[in-house]
Amino acid sequence: SHSSVVLTEVHGKVGLIRINRPERMNALNDAVVDAIGAALDTFEADDAIGAIVITGNEKAFAAGADIGAMAEFDYQHAYRTDYITRNWERVKTCRKPIIAAVAGYALGGGCELAMMCDFIIAADNAKFGQPEIKLGILPGAGGTQRLPRAVGKAKAMDMCLTARFMDAEEAERAGLVSRIVPVDRLLDEALSAAQTIASYSLPVVMMVKECVNRAFESSLAEGLLFERRVFHAAFALEDQKEGMKAFLEKRPPQFKNR
Ligand code: HXC
Repeated sequence: SHSSVVLTEVHGKVGLIRINRPERMNALNDAVVDAIGAALDTFEADDAIGAIVITGNEKAFAAGADIGAMAEFDYQHAYRTDYITRNWERVKTCRKPIIAAVAGYALGGGCELAMMCDFIIAADNAKFGQPEIKLGILPGAGGTQRLPRAVGKAKAMDMCLTARFMDAEEAERAGLVSRIVPVDRLLDEALSAAQTIASYSLPVVMMVKECVNRAFESSLAEGLLFERRVFHAAFALEDQKEGMKAFLEKRPPQFKNR
């Protein structure tokens, strides 16, 4: 299916979302963010979809919010319209896992969008940055909050204050990305990781995502308690019976997502 600024495709059990403003380095505006949200609505409602990939093109995942659109904003306009961010949390509220497949630039809002996904697979040409300070603004969609949680205070402060970019190697070392692949392998790798996830029991996949995210919202004791409750709940699933039975019978499991 097509809308101009975002393209969607289905690959097996995976929903793919491509940001598609190549002439603007995939700069984000409300139309892009709304279209990503609409694609997530569709994929989340579709029982045949088990995981989602968001990507850009080989030059840019997204080079940030659209600077041309923001240049003349005043305070009341920024506040009232909540440009870019009014629908931002839709990526976070999606209960199915989302992989960001990042090639080229992931800057400003682009880096923040990638960080809001569940994990990032980077192409070897990926460049991450929060260069807002050069424009006389600051990160406004999670950069000062999610980046330190991902890479620690030192690198987050360095990136937000100097505006320097982090390449794929440094991003992997620092824990911002989970793996690096050659740029021409990026989409295959991300789709294959997503297919693997989608081959497991969807309720269990959702439980894992919910538990890991809880780690960032709670004390260790609360998080461990939450995990234990969800772990015990998994024994209510038919897929738990099937998964363990299949192991003992030395055959692949046939999960039914219930
Ligand atoms: C609007 C953009 C853009 C952006 C690139 N373009 N990034 N337009 N908003 N964020 C446009 C360029 O103006 C240019 O248009 C075309 O895309 C190609 O980009 P070039 O600059 O010619 O390419 P290159 O020299 O390869 O440099 C790539 C780049 C650079 C390093 C990514 O474009 C760049 O620094 N972009 C801005 C990055 C940035 O500051 N991001 C943070 C934005 S603020 P023309 O018409 O010349 O062809 C933000 C706040 C989010 O994200 C907070 C959320 C609320």
